Amino acid sequence: MGLKVLGIETSCDETAVGVVEDGRQLWTNVIASQVDLHSIYGGIVPEVASRQHVRDMVPVVEKAVSDAGLALENIDAIGVTYGPGLGGALITGLNTAKALSFALDRPLIGVNHLEGHIYASWLTSHVPDEDPGFPLACLIASGGHTDLVLMEGHGNYRLLGRTRDDAAGEAFDKAARILGLGFPGGPEIQRVSEGALGQERLPRAWMRGTLDFSFSGVKTALLHMAQARGIYPEVAEGLEGGELTGMIREMAAAFQESLVDVMSAKLFEAAESYGAKGLVLGGGVAANALLRQEVSQRSPLPVIIPPPVLCTDNGAMIAACAYFQYLRGDQFGLELDIDPSLTLG
Ligand code: KG4
Ligand code: ZN
Repeated sequence: MGLKVLGIETSCDETAVGVVEDGRQLWTNVIASQVDLHSIYGGIVPEVASRQHVRDMVPVVEKAVSDAGLALENIDAIGVTYGPGLGGALITGLNTAKALSFALDRPLIGVNHLEGHIYASWLTSHVPDEDPGFPLACLIASGGHTDLVLMEGHGNYRLLGRTRDDAAGEAFDKAARILGLGFPGGPEIQRVSEGALGQERLPRAWMRGTLDFSFSGVKTALLHMAQARGIYPEVAEGLEGGELTGMIREMAAAFQESLVDVMSAKLFEAAESYGAKGLVLGGGVAANALLRQEVSQRSPLPVIIPPPVLCTDNGAMIAACAYFQYLRGDQFGLELDIDPSLTLG
């Protein structure tokens, strides 16, 4: 029997708990999403998120353990996201993890959420540290981050580039709002882009000479385009039906293309410049079908992309990451505090 880690994730709007054996074998991955709760506001309301985590936490832990056919006593270690994220949200997960660690007398392992997104790749059929092996060039693109990271070994990261303004997921969410689509924006933009004819084009911010990103320019360009086409701030009179949907589809597709183009090119550039052996995608935006397709088809190197459900926030990735931290003796005491602005590398 391997080592079973329970991973708890509450950094944003998912109350999520997973059970993973030996950092690779996924037993359960239970996610209580708060999307419906926040979508009426068009974005995440931190106070609402904190309260919902409190309601969902215990049932989600119980379900993750019982669906695995286990009892809490069978869990060998507790992993938990302690940052980055929303303070009030992180506290619920961390305090639950502390209570479990104390009551069960099991090690408590604090996990960096961004590192967790990378470790979702260990829950695929690949063994990234053996095939293709380190170093790995990783793109973590989520609602709060767009980081290019060189993973040189377990727990060994070098930040190569990051966004200077909006995160990619945040940009998708704002673009969706401009186009009158729902929240979260990424999946909506992807959905309406299907079947677009490529009639619109938006700029790309290349940030030449750096591996940094900038997405606020393309967002403003989209805003201006939406104003010029008469769909923002309100849809112009007489514009409706097929004509309106067609315009939104073309604009959404142009936006998606701009982001995907820059993210994939910068990931390839990072991999080449730093001699990476393979590429890893992680974070909610890595669920994007066009990004997955572009990176897989154009990469000269092996690519590992977790299934979409492991790209967006989940507890299994936290459990996988915690296992590798456990192996290197990375343990935390009950005094562990949240760190909402924790970084990686
Ligand atoms: O990693 P994640 O679940 O939470 C954070 O750590 O932020 O990422 C959420 C972000 C949201 O901004 C959402 O719009 C974006 O990921 N996202 C997508 C897709 N699915 C989720 N963006 C583009 N295409 C998608 N299919
Ligand atoms: Zn995330």
